[in-house]
Amino acid sequence: MDLHLSKAEPTPEEREAIEALVGAPQSRDTHTAAGGRAARAQRHLLLPALQAVQSRVGWISEGALTYLCARLTVPPAEAYGVVTFYALLSTTPRPKRVLHVCDDIACRCKGAEALCTELERTKSDTLVLRSPCLGLCDQAPAALLTVAGAEPVERLFGDVTVARAKQVLKGEVPDGATRLPLPQAGDASLRLLRRVGVADPASLDDYRARDGYVALRRAIEIGPADVIREVTDAKLMGRGGAAFPTGRKWDAVAKQTVRPHYLVCNADESEPGTFKDRVLMEQDPFSVVEAMTVAAYATGCERGFIYLRGEYPLANERMLHAIRAARARGLLGQNIMGRPFGFDIEIRRGGGAYICGEETAVFNSIEGYRGEPRNKPPFPVEVGLFGKTSRHSSTCSRFSGSVALPTLPSARPARAARGSFVCRGASRGRASTRCRSALRCASCSTSPAE
Ligand SMILES: Cc1cc2nc3c(=O)[nH]c(=O)nc-3n(C[C@H](O)[C@H](O)[C@H](O)COP(=O)(O)O)c2cc1C
Ligand code: FES
Repeated sequence: MDLHLSKAEPTPEEREAIEALVGAPQSRDTHTAAGGRAARAQRHLLLPALQAVQSRVGWISEGALTYLCARLTVPPAEAYGVVTFYALLSTTPRPKRVLHVCDDIACRCKGAEALCTELERTKSDTLVLRSPCLGLCDQAPAALLTVAGAEPVERLFGDVTVARAKQVLKGEVPDGATRLPLPQAGDASLRLLRRVGVADPASLDDYRARDGYVALRRAIEIGPADVIREVTDAKLMGRGGAAFPTGRKWDAVAKQTVRPHYLVCNADESEPGTFKDRVLMEQDPFSVVEAMTVAAYATGCERGFIYLRGEYPLANERMLHAIRAARARGLLGQNIMGRPFGFDIEIRRGGGAYICGEETAVFNSIEGYRGEPRNKPPFPVEVGLFGKTSRHSSTCSRFSGSVALPTLPSARPARAARGSFVCRGASRGRASTRCRSALRCASCSTSPAE
């Protein structure tokens, strides 16, 4: 690709942040796009790399963007379109410390306007920015502190007073432990939230002692078709807002013959006033991992992504821990529970864009494009993640058919599944029956039929 790059160079810090993610270059000449197809296949690293620079330096300079464009073979205009799409990224210099103060509905009712006005006129090295809902409405008013550096800090905290915020502006770092928003914690009638406030969210053993992984074991016993039947019979519905029948979606995904299938868990949750997913991820993260694994088993997904809201640092930390712990015990990876079934999960963080919760905008965001919704049809069940196949290759040798939004059953036997976390799957490839024959893998040029 003929890239027209500026002469701006990255700083050593920016270069280091980018290379930690995309690897060291073969040549130090940043004005030559080397790697061709292999570099283009890494386009999906664009947003994570931009986030790495942002959290290392506090903003993204022209030099950093230019270097990233050269490394990933992305036209600068496209990369600029991506970086300016996300509220948590900045292309103008910012101080390392930024306090994002929510002035959205719930926080406004709890005095956020006066809080913001007071903080905006307080002199400090910390930049104060107003923010839309931070998903901590139960503890309004809320704020998110980000401190850029080699060891970046992110803290979401609530019950913010002027006095407390001023301490933060002076350099204090709040602990970021969110309060438990569940008065009924421990109530035996709870289903989806029954472990919240009861189980240790960092302990896989504790999770297992409370029926954790019973659902996956049972799913593997009865097989994918029966799991889908159970989910359908249980009338499990999606939690994304449309109450779509989960069983129908899983069934459509499972029937797609081309591979791979992807599972995407929609944890973007940016609707003002909404924090249902945050509570699950912070308080019962293993249930999200297990439920994704059940969904993957039923629908034949090999790889899963959690698209996790950028403003949820604690949820990110706990989900990361849960994924690593599950992997270490053979509950993710190859031969899960000793069976010929492999599945793994990767977290992708949002960059502060409400629209990215829309099902196809998530795909664009993960793929390294502006998080704008795609036209439908084709629907995600036909053309999902990495649907623009020419832009992705990685290890694929075939493009899959479709998949769409498997919703997570709560972690219990599928028969009892009800009320769920929002999860969805997708496959890559323009592989509807209409266009399957036109497909060619970007890395090996085989078509799905071959
Ligand atoms: C502007 C917009 C934002 C959305 N944000 C979210 C979101 O944050 N989380 C979510 O699960 N669904 C969101 N949705 C709905 C998704 O497009 C999709 O319908 C949903 O994730 C399907 O999952 P389900 O079948 O489990 O309900 C959004 C839709 C629109 C139009
Ligand atoms: S309205 Fe402020 S955190 Fe939701």
